[in-house]
Amino acid sequence: MLFGSRGGAVPVTEKNANKMWGGRFAQSPAEIMQEINASISFDKVLAPQDIRGSKAHAAMLGETGIITRADAREILRGLDQVAAEIESGSFVFARELEDVHMNVESRLKEIIGPAAGRLHTARSRNDQVATDFRLFVRDAADSLIRSIGELQGALVEKAEVHAGTVMPGFTHMQSAQPVTFGHHLLAYVEMLGRDRGRFVDARRRLNECPLGSAALAGTSFPIDRQKTAEELGFDRPMANSLDGVADRDFALEILAAASITAMHLSRFAEEIVIWMTPQFGFVRLSDRFTTGSSIMPQKRNPDAAELVRAKVGRVAGAFQGLLMVMKGLPLAYSKDMQEDKEATFDALDSLRLGLAAMTGIVRDVEPVAETMRAAAGRGYSTATDLADWLVRELKMPFREAHHVTGSIVKAAEDQGLDLENVPLEAMQAIEPRISKGIFSVLSVENSVKSRKSYGGTSPQNVAKMARNWAKRLEKEAAGR
Ligand code: ARG
Repeated sequence: MLFGSRGGAVPVTEKNANKMWGGRFAQSPAEIMQEINASISFDKVLAPQDIRGSKAHAAMLGETGIITRADAREILRGLDQVAAEIESGSFVFARELEDVHMNVESRLKEIIGPAAGRLHTARSRNDQVATDFRLFVRDAADSLIRSIGELQGALVEKAEVHAGTVMPGFTHMQSAQPVTFGHHLLAYVEMLGRDRGRFVDARRRLNECPLGSAALAGTSFPIDRQKTAEELGFDRPMANSLDGVADRDFALEILAAASITAMHLSRFAEEIVIWMTPQFGFVRLSDRFTTGSSIMPQKRNPDAAELVRAKVGRVAGAFQGLLMVMKGLPLAYSKDMQEDKEATFDALDSLRLGLAAMTGIVRDVEPVAETMRAAAGRGYSTATDLADWLVRELKMPFREAHHVTGSIVKAAEDQGLDLENVPLEAMQAIEPRISKGIFSVLSVENSVKSRKSYGGTSPQNVAKMARNWAKRLEKEAAGR
């Protein structure tokens, strides 16, 4: 309801009383109360996790004798039917029933009758939702970990092919020193490797089970928390029932990891956008990941990359939003925490999409080697190589070599020449001990070849690093 609700009080009748908690209420909720309170419009995506959690709980109640085995069997059968109805799309979610938990339980009652009322023994929606949400976030983390690996794989493949393809490296967005395209791509592989590590790490801490915390204090029933934890793939039950229902740091950690990953994708997307401009012309991108303009026939727009660049806003916004929801909340559960879901769902899905789009872009992007090479040679990008030669061959202190090189660059600039083309005599006029050997370090190819220090851009290094990564990624993919 958008406008027009007066929100007047309506007396409770058999029909409109809330079946789950209506016992002591004399009036039904105002329309606006329902609107602000209900979460079913978005938490229905938790239905698979909710049913999984309920089945684990019901089985445990049966095995411990808290309910009869016959009732447990009925509940399990009914939950399977609910799951099938949701999957087939025939399930009708009702706002009056607030959230996914009560929608599922209410349908269960229609299917199996009074035994459904025993499912909520020794449980509260507080530990129920904490469990569902953890399971959901865990699934999303697992899938994101795989997607990061796929993007890394695409980058590594391209890096192997272009281990020796020279391009300008930039600092301050100014040509700095030549690097190789493969080296540049592997920089992102490293970043994504740390991103993956953050997800793996957060997942390990996340993997404890809140179910059995009940409302906040635990329960007087002899439940087996070890059993339900194990059944749901958790490493152990959470050790404190208040903590179990009160914290969402697991979602925050995953959102923080997601924000950093999305930030990395955004930087790379920005580079793709820049490289694709006619002014740069460093790469070509297939029709599959670009769009045309409805008015300018010549255009090819990098929409996919631009959207990847933008997605970080929603992801980091979700992190900030949840952090602010949690800030200042007293223990244990408060309804504020229902606000944990929408933005988290959106953020994790946005990152999934961003990773998938970027993987496609990387597979399809082709560097224009001649353009990159020519650009790499402009802007006196081998000036550092010249200075290094003076240090190595003439034993000049680096500071002095820097000064001499500066004078040579100035001479080149005055004559409108690249460093490679400055005549030997012109250099000797500045530093008489310079010999023709210096030209060997002034080409961009020799410049990158010489950068053999560990982690440097030499094609040899890059090819080796790419091979190492390919092996590591294979192991990681097999390990999960
Ligand atoms: N829909 C609620 C949520 O997402 C479920 C828990 C409700 N608990 C309660 N005590 N009202 O947080």
